[in-house]
Amino acid sequence: MKRSEKKSQASWGGRFSEAPSDLMLRFSESVSFDKLLARFDIEGSSAHAKMLAKTGIISKPECRQILAGLKKILKRIEDGNFAWSESLEDVHMNIEQALTAEVPAAAKLHTARSRNDQVATDMRLFFKYACGEILKKIGKLMKTLVDLADANRDVFMPGYTHMQRAQPVSAAHHVLAWVEMFARDMERFKFAAEAANVSPLGSGAIAGTTLPIDRLETARLLGFVDSETGEPVLTGNSMDAVADRDLFLEFSFACAVLGIHFSRVSEDVVIWNSSEFAFVELPDAFTTGSSLMPQKKNPDAFELMRGKSARLVGNLSALFTLMKGLPLTYNRDMQEDKPPIFDSFSQVCVCLDVLAECAGKIKFSKQKCAAAVSDPLLLATDLADYFVMKGVPFRKAHHCVGKIVALSESKKIPIDKLDDADVFAVCDAADKSWRSVFDLKRAFDMREKIGMPGRRQIAAQIAAWREILGKSS
Ligand code: ARG
Repeated sequence: MKRSEKKSQASWGGRFSEAPSDLMLRFSESVSFDKLLARFDIEGSSAHAKMLAKTGIISKPECRQILAGLKKILKRIEDGNFAWSESLEDVHMNIEQALTAEVPAAAKLHTARSRNDQVATDMRLFFKYACGEILKKIGKLMKTLVDLADANRDVFMPGYTHMQRAQPVSAAHHVLAWVEMFARDMERFKFAAEAANVSPLGSGAIAGTTLPIDRLETARLLGFVDSETGEPVLTGNSMDAVADRDLFLEFSFACAVLGIHFSRVSEDVVIWNSSEFAFVELPDAFTTGSSLMPQKKNPDAFELMRGKSARLVGNLSALFTLMKGLPLTYNRDMQEDKPPIFDSFSQVCVCLDVLAECAGKIKFSKQKCAAAVSDPLLLATDLADYFVMKGVPFRKAHHCVGKIVALSESKKIPIDKLDDADVFAVCDAADKSWRSVFDLKRAFDMREKIGMPGRRQIAAQIAAWREILGKSS
């Protein structure tokens, strides 16, 4: 194509005597990634056309032609029969040009609209959709994890702080901790979806329009309505509407936190799967072998998930850096806001799918966990609590148990096998019943307050999650 022809293609070409260089076209195009917005762009354009017809800015037949043309273009795009052109910059211009080529009335479609409010609208529609998809997937993952917890109520294992054996928990309690993390992620995506539910359309490039548009109508048509009252919700300031990218940060933040959760859950699994722990066995379908060492079964799915979290945090960081210091309102820098968002969305989706699939297939080794949890030192705190119940101040009780632990170490006798006399010598409040502390059943039975790992608590939590998750789907 000659440069003079390119000039006439650009929708803003009027004031220019020279077309952009090929290098500039390649540098500035966004269609290679923003074509993902096509269906939202067409939805937005359709609503805009209807509004223009309703207010008499375009005629009803013109509107009908535009709508029919947009429908055809969407079909072509969905069928993969649409020729995207980099020289038309972005998704908006590609669609508009294709439409105008078939429907002359489409030359009126961009009336009272700018790509600035158009892209803000497209992205808000995208965020509502993306949050909905992610919420469904998190819900599915949570259900799988609740099933996993349910199936492993009787697998008792050490809980760790500082990667040191701390206190006994059950596999169910540990998995339910993950469920809590993902429940908070749900709240974050619900918040982002709610924040997205505001129509910027009609804000124009920066200061609205002199034409008699009806912003409430487009908001209503696009579903930017209050979920309770059904009333349309509009942005309140045309400058903020085209400059605001808070939602990008919020969505990306929600993805980054979810990524941190993927990473921490994965690290738990990687540790449990190591030969040193061997608390779990992972499904063959989500592990890989080594090209050199035949014995290896590597937890790649979980390692990748741990790795992907870096990317999700990186995307958030890129967006923060992009927006920092940008003057109001729209600046072309902001075109760079989309790749991190689309990347976070697709990575979060695939991680949620992978985790839901393979977490459901984790097999806990009851035996290995039981061997680890039989370490009586896991109940040292319970012994301190026992002394407290005998009236010893906690600080003193803690100190006494510390001495008893040291004694067990120096004598090389497990703490629960020490002589009564040794224990009585350290703590005169102790009586013969001190040894009863070293019983896992007792340890769990005594932890039946809300949020603790007692068996009835776990049963109640599982039932509560089933109720919540059943309702939300
Ligand atoms: N492709 C642009 C973006 O994503 C659309 C908005 C362009 N606006 C403009 N004034 N050049 O940011």
